[in-house]
Amino acid sequence: MWKRAVICMLLAAFLGGCTKGQKEEQKTEIRMGISLYRGDDTFINNIRSVLETKAKDYEREHGIKVILDIQDAKGSQNTQNNQVERFISLGCDVLCINPVDRMDASVIIDKAMTAGVPVVFFNRQPVEEDMNRWDRLYYIGVDAKETAVLQGQMVVNLYRKEPLAVDLNGDGVVNYVLLEGETSHQDSLIRTEWSIQTLKDGGVPIEKITGGIANWERSQASALMEQWLSEYPDTIELVVSNNDDMALGAIDALEREGIREMNVIGIDGTTPGLEALESGKLLGTVSANKELYASVIVELAASCAMGEVLPKEYPLEDGTYYWAPQEILIHNAE
Ligand code: GAL
Repeated sequence: MWKRAVICMLLAAFLGGCTKGQKEEQKTEIRMGISLYRGDDTFINNIRSVLETKAKDYEREHGIKVILDIQDAKGSQNTQNNQVERFISLGCDVLCINPVDRMDASVIIDKAMTAGVPVVFFNRQPVEEDMNRWDRLYYIGVDAKETAVLQGQMVVNLYRKEPLAVDLNGDGVVNYVLLEGETSHQDSLIRTEWSIQTLKDGGVPIEKITGGIANWERSQASALMEQWLSEYPDTIELVVSNNDDMALGAIDALEREGIREMNVIGIDGTTPGLEALESGKLLGTVSANKELYASVIVELAASCAMGEVLPKEYPLEDGTYYWAPQEILIHNAE
């Protein structure tokens, strides 16, 4: 008898991941409660559409109905906490949360732990202390340092090949402005730091003219850029932006002023970002693989709900984190 108990315990430890040791009764339907920090964020919207497609793919492949209950927290942590409560009362099998305040995921975690419902966080990374509270918490995102190094690298590569394509007036200095995302977001600080460091390390003679926080938003970035263009006329050669939407805001301001000769670089590879890249308004971006990003969210959430282990092709770091791959996309790349 005791031997059987030991074998069961070993098996439970081996299965780990989303199983609680015993396979739950086979379900015929999975209900996922998904809350977005802001439904009007372009990148998040892109991820949302792929999530919907991947859920349909999962349904087709596994013959299990997947119900997505997608809610917009509209930038309010309080609203999101209420949404989580509602998801739990509706009997959701798993929660997929894009936290409003990544420093304050504790209320969500408390509710989920009490109800025994696993949580797949994405895009806004809760602090480690919170993530370590339970072994049924996961995080999916992109590695912020990797993104930034790739962003810097694309300009370094271009400068090495054709210095005048970056140092537009050929005076040996590349004057740049910087557009930053939300201050409390893990991506803003790290992207800024490593993007600039990579440019310096790569030998691009950069000099900062000015910079500002535009909270990922196109309209805020556009207003800042308009102001900088009037304060520093004929000076700026490069706009380094923490995301595509703010890069597009800078491009809007350039278009209003009728300026065509300036390099603008972003991050995300959003749908409007890729259109601007195609037309040459955006020099380059670092694009996260959204197919994989969303696939892992759906597969991980579904395996949690089904009491199964995550498919081997999606290895989790420390059994908790998945980092989606990313690539440099540059206008007119050969
Ligand atoms: C970043 C992304 C931004 C914005 C933000 C929201 O990773 O680059 O465009 O979507 O997440 O948390």
